[in-house]
Amino acid sequence: MAIFIDSSDPKEIKELFGWGVLSGVTTNPLIISKEQPDAQLDAVVKEVLAASWGDVSVELTTETEKEMIEEAAIYHSWDPKRICIKVPMSEHGLRVVHQLTQKGVKTNVTCLMAMNQAYLAALAGATYVSIFSGRVRDMGYNVFPVIESTRKILDREGLGAKIIVGSMRHMMDVNEALEAGAHCPTITPPILRKMVWNPRTIETINEFNTAWANRGKKK
Ligand code: E4P
Repeated sequence: MAIFIDSSDPKEIKELFGWGVLSGVTTNPLIISKEQPDAQLDAVVKEVLAASWGDVSVELTTETEKEMIEEAAIYHSWDPKRICIKVPMSEHGLRVVHQLTQKGVKTNVTCLMAMNQAYLAALAGATYVSIFSGRVRDMGYNVFPVIESTRKILDREGLGAKIIVGSMRHMMDVNEALEAGAHCPTITPPILRKMVWNPRTIETINEFNTAWANRGKKK
């Protein structure tokens, strides 16, 4: 079990890795375009690598098999042990995953909405299969059975792929992903910070600290 951070902001990533609870980073072209609109991809990813540990997923943006393999080689060279090539699910994508797996390159098959897609990705050799919680729900479907059945089939068939669940919109999505059998929820910084917070915890700490500050004082 591991938690990944869904961000491309090196400052935020460094701060949150300091908690000791994170094991990797996921980025995607949308996150990087929003958070780092003017930066070069190699500069952003190198900063993210320096601010973190574990696997860092970087997504392919080309669409033909040849271009995808060439793009993957560039990202892989930035840190062969830690860069995980994020491959959007498609027929080309599966071929690319198969080839990268044979070369020992880690892959994360992304944009998955259903168990059948995750199963194919795992059979092709994916290191990770990424199920998009919020986007499945946007279509009006329940994501719990998608995660649960994916976990069941991966375990039953002895496939090594780990399930990442991303596209988190609320803290409850993280709880649901964990209960359904996700290996690695990937969580945005605001949701991760909310996981720490509980009003009853704050109230209790205040009660203890007030009692300590007032100890020995007559009422
Ligand atoms: C995770 O790997 C995905 O890139 C990310 O969580 C997608 O989230 P979105 O649906 O908010 O774009």
